[in-house]
Amino acid sequence: MILLSLKHIIVKKERGKILDRLSLNVNKGEIHAIIGTNGVGKTTLANVIMGLEKVSNGRIKFQNKDITNLSVSKRAKIGIKILQQNPPSFEGIKIREYLKVGNELSIKDIKRILKKVGLPEEYSERFLDDTLSGGERKRVEIASILTSNPKLAILDEPDSGIDMLSISDLKKIIKELNKEGTTILLITHRGEIAKIADVASLMCNGKIKKTGNPKEISSLFKKECKNELRRRV
Ligand SMILES: Nc1ncnc2c1ncn2[C@@H]1O[C@H](COP(=O)(O)OP(=O)(O)OP(=O)(O)O)[C@@H](O)[C@H]1O
Ligand SMILES: [Mg+2]
Repeated sequence: MILLSLKHIIVKKERGKILDRLSLNVNKGEIHAIIGTNGVGKTTLANVIMGLEKVSNGRIKFQNKDITNLSVSKRAKIGIKILQQNPPSFEGIKIREYLKVGNELSIKDIKRILKKVGLPEEYSERFLDDTLSGGERKRVEIASILTSNPKLAILDEPDSGIDMLSISDLKKIIKELNKEGTTILLITHRGEIAKIADVASLMCNGKIKKTGNPKEISSLFKKECKNELRRRV
C-alpha cells in the first residue's frame, strides 16, 4: 500500500530546476533509502515532503489525500516528521520541554529516550540553543522523532555529525522505530546505513532515476551521477 506519493514535482530556483518532474512512491511500513551525490536535491525533496519548500508543479499525496498545499504544522499533525540535515536551534526552550510537545511523557520517559540516543539524562535541563554541538542537536531531534511516533519519518542524513561509534546504535534506533510502525525515508550517502533499507532510490539531476533493492542501487550510485555539481555552475 502506498503511503506517500510524489508526482512530477518541480522546484525552481534562480539557477534552474532543483527538482525536475520528480516522481516517487513510498510504501507503508518500508525503510526507503534515497541515495545521491551532493547537490542532486535530496534535502530539497525532504523539505518538499514536509512542506518547508514550495513546489511550482506536481502533486503530493499522503494516505491517498492531496497534501500539496497543506502547511507544515498540518502535515506534522497527520503524522509526518522530519529530521533535518542541519537542525535549527531554538532559544529559550529546554530539551525536556521540547520533547514533551504533543505527548504525555513523564520526565522519566524523557530521560530514558535521551539515554537511548546517547545523551546524559541531565541534558533534559539544557536549552535547545546553539550551545549544543551539532551532533548533540541531531541526537535531540532523533529523540524527538522517537517521542512522536510518526507515520512517516524523513531522516535527512541522520548519520552526518554523529560519530562513527554510534552508527550501529543509530541503525538500531531506525530499525526499532520502523518495527513500531513508522515508515522511513532515509536520505544517506553511506552504503552501510542504506543496507538497512528494504528498498532504495537513486537520485540524479533532481529526479529519481531508479528504484530497486538497496544493494543494486548502491552499486549504480558509484557509477552514475558523477558531475552533478559541475552542471549547476
Ligand atoms: N535557495 C537556493 N537558491 C539556489 N540554489 C539552491 C537553493 N537551495 C538549494 N539550491 C541548490 O540546489 C541543489 C540541491 O540542493 P540540496 O540541498 O537539495 O542537495 P542535496 O542533495 O541535499 O545535497 P547534500 O548531499 O550536499 O546534502 C544544490 O545545487 C544547491 O546549491
Ligand atoms: Mg542535503
